Amino acid sequence: MLEIKDLHVEVEGKEIIRGVNLKINDGEFHVLMGHNGSGKTTLAKAVMGHPSTKIKSGDIIFNGQSVKDMSADKRAKLGLFLEFQAPVEVEGVGFVNFLRAARESTTGSTVDIKQFMAEIREYTDKLAISGGIIGRSLNQGFSGGEKKKAEILQMALLKPKLAILDEPDSGLDIDAVKAVAESINEIYNKQKMGLLLITHYSRILNYMKPEYVHVMAGGKMVAEGGQDLILKLEKEGYDSFIKSNGKRN
Ligand SMILES: Nc1ncnc2c1ncn2[C@@H]1O[C@H](COP(=O)(O)OP(=O)(O)OP(=O)(O)O)[C@@H](O)[C@H]1O
Ligand SMILES: [Mg+2]
Repeated sequence: MLEIKDLHVEVEGKEIIRGVNLKINDGEFHVLMGHNGSGKTTLAKAVMGHPSTKIKSGDIIFNGQSVKDMSADKRAKLGLFLEFQAPVEVEGVGFVNFLRAARESTTGSTVDIKQFMAEIREYTDKLAISGGIIGRSLNQGFSGGEKKKAEILQMALLKPKLAILDEPDSGLDIDAVKAVAESINEIYNKQKMGLLLITHYSRILNYMKPEYVHVMAGGKMVAEGGQDLILKLEKEGYDSFIKSNGKRN
């Protein structure tokens, strides 16, 4: 469904992604790990069409068509979704209005507000999101954990075909990691979507079962395998893991 082909991406004139290949088929669950600054977020942003990223060469194919020159909203309409590592606060845009506009623009049909509010409530309950934030502006004054949960709520409502989740576990307390993991599992199973989860820690993976694990360093993929890679990484740390298993250069 998603194929990243020999992708090179620049940010502010500097090459950050240096020849990445990655293939995610329908319904597959992949994990992307790598040390701070290795390029994970930049790769995710480039796939989504974030304006800070400039594709120098290579291609991004989604469901058979190249999306590398498409705007982010067109990519979203095709079914791509990115959960931001650091969601931005948007003053004056009500959270529910934002969710509704996003749903209407991705599906092209009008939302039945009563049914939509019931869907929102289902996930605010599951994610233990306090009712108060629903009435606020998007992410305005949300705590770090609330912002991350709000992004998962968006994913539940937008029903993407492929979701890239950039550290959905960062800043979450122990119970919240479990709640978020269980909600992601539920949405993933219901939607039969593809999933690329970026994370540093194996705690969230106590509740989730990825099939493929990729490790990035210096803007390249340096190791690929199954879940056993995560345990090895955790035991050895990135540097010695990459020295003994990877092809860092
Ligand atoms: N706007 C920018 N201007 C300059 N450099 C940038 C910019 N955005 C990212 N970079 C650089 O690109 C590199 C990769 O950053 P990126 O955010 O993709 O890393 P990451 O793997 O997601 O790290 P982390 O695990 O800390 O989230 C870093 O060296 C970062 O400083
Ligand atoms: Mg990052």
